[in-house]
Amino acid sequence: MRFYAALSLLWVGIAQADVSVPSPDYDVKTDIAETCSACHGLRYLDLAQGYDTPQEWSHLIASMVTLSPARDEAVSRYLATNHPHKPSKAPILVPGSTNIVIDEWITPTLGQRTRDPIEAPDGAIWWTGMWASLVGRLDPDTGKMTEFPLPSSARPHSIVPDDEGFIWYTGNSNGTIGRLNPADGSIKEFPTQARDPHTAVFHPNGSLYFTSQHSNMLGRLNPKTGDLIEVDTRRKPYGIKVGKDGDLFVAFNGTNAIGRMDPQTLSLSYYDIPDEATRIRRLDLDSNGNVWFVNSSLGKIGRLNVETGAVTQWDSPSGATSHPYSMTVIDDVVWYNESGMRPDALVRFDPESERFQSWAIPSGVGIIRHTWKTRDGDLLIHQSSSNRVGRVRIGD
Ligand code: HEC
Repeated sequence: MRFYAALSLLWVGIAQADVSVPSPDYDVKTDIAETCSACHGLRYLDLAQGYDTPQEWSHLIASMVTLSPARDEAVSRYLATNHPHKPSKAPILVPGSTNIVIDEWITPTLGQRTRDPIEAPDGAIWWTGMWASLVGRLDPDTGKMTEFPLPSSARPHSIVPDDEGFIWYTGNSNGTIGRLNPADGSIKEFPTQARDPHTAVFHPNGSLYFTSQHSNMLGRLNPKTGDLIEVDTRRKPYGIKVGKDGDLFVAFNGTNAIGRMDPQTLSLSYYDIPDEATRIRRLDLDSNGNVWFVNSSLGKIGRLNVETGAVTQWDSPSGATSHPYSMTVIDDVVWYNESGMRPDALVRFDPESERFQSWAIPSGVGIIRHTWKTRDGDLLIHQSSSNRVGRVRIGD
């Protein structure tokens, strides 16, 4: 992340419209190396499913950066020849009887790494654009979007609303928790000891609890008093949710464990999850208080009985490399995605029948990194590569 911070000014400049026409000494490989790696390494070219036609490459690039027609043609033609379609990335889609409708919106600032949508109390959808250090508001009825700049060093990883409509963000690059007032765009920052606040959640007790992945810390902020306490924990705490009895449950992306934290004392205990290779990004809870989690590294999903510590796991339909990532439980049905596949697949798992069903995300290029349940029982999704927020309306 530090790497991107150093390059932020450069890529904001590049994202502007470019009207230049390649000169006779134009070299397409140099152009790709300079333009594309301004935001990310060229290994991303292999992360994608690859495309056989310049049109498909052009479509994907247009969600990240605006190139002049001549450069777009040269770059897209080069990529179609050298990075063709890789069928091995295709998800195994499982048919089923549940109907869903997916709406997607492309967010205004290109290449911002749109992610982690939430619903505010007034029904607006908010997202964070991590690489452009902004948060955005979408009115899902009209499609109107407004972006709010944050301090350029903040690079918010995640956002969460409070009951009054303030948007709280984790300043992943400047070691802060921040609060945006949507009424006037003003920001209040709370500096943390950890360098990289990651994901936050509000507790019914009014405090904000958060993970800091690379600092290996968990924290609690009292928004009224500004009191902030942080504790050390195992490696790479990631997703965090409030359990049925008020304890906090924490996913670990650096060890095979799920943590349980007392909200008052911040004391921690751990459930070891089978297989040392297990890495867990996100988790959620069902109405019985069971923790559901993605086993991202092993291509599985699992259920932890928090009373007994018993763990049950199921193989995700697309298998060991499917990299399940986000997770939200809605009406005791589990929704997650297979971020290692292209298109990124949205998966439904019914614990009662132990059946899977899955769909390709329409815009086609991952990754969903965090999902959110709306008050109407819809699922908010996003695609960090192709700059989109989405809403999944779940039917019968
Ligand atoms: C303004 C920033 C920006 C620029 C410039 C940019 N990209 Fe990206 N690109 C992104 C973001 C953000 C992602 C998603 C990264 C993530 O989620 O970790 C991404 C992801 C990708 C992916 C992965 C797609 C997938 O399937 O997930 C490919 C391929 C890609 N970019 C190609 C390119 C090419 C080719 C160029 C140069 C012509 C380029 N990008 C320039 C922001 C940018």
